[in-house]
Amino acid sequence: MKKALILIVMVVFSLVAVSASFAKPAKCPQPRKTKSAPGSIAKKDKTAKANAKNGKAIYMKKAKPMACKMCHGVKGDGGGKLGGALKPAPRNFACKATMKKVSAGQMFHIIKNGSKGTGMVGHKKTLKDKEIWDVVKYIRSTFVK
Ligand code: HEC
Repeated sequence: MKKALILIVMVVFSLVAVSASFAKPAKCPQPRKTKSAPGSIAKKDKTAKANAKNGKAIYMKKAKPMACKMCHGVKGDGGGKLGGALKPAPRNFACKATMKKVSAGQMFHIIKNGSKGTGMVGHKKTLKDKEIWDVVKYIRSTFVK
């Protein structure tokens, strides 16, 4: 009897763990809590000379305190492991309807300074400007279609 109970508890726990690791994509169109960058920055775009490959390494692994994929997901759709737990949800870069309002400069500004009142932290101290443009290029060339 006791053994059966332990087994049931174990099965339930593993199911919960499995479902949590398959976070769903965020909504599309998606509301944005993030404020607009100042116009002069929003219009900047230095992705032409940026390195998308280095951007990928940052997105998938190197970013501190956490890889971008943990929230924004490996597919960039906001379906990262932690994404489902966040309110507002992480940006869904694969959502065209929402991303057409988000310029490269806007992304640069938020990645650098963070977005107040959301889980998006600034990376001013951990990424150089050049590295931020690399990750902007990776996201825009890979997920934003
Ligand atoms: C802890 C979870 C988390 C991590 C890690 C994270 N983000 Fe975010 N991100 C968010 C949330 C939440 C928002 C705000 C969504 C909103 O505005 O409603 C956001 C917003 C953004 C935006 C703003 C888009 C806009 O609408 O203006 C960009 C760009 C972005 N993230 C890129 C990144 C990059 C690049 C990394 C890695 C260097 C990263 N994020 C890491 C959760 C995260």
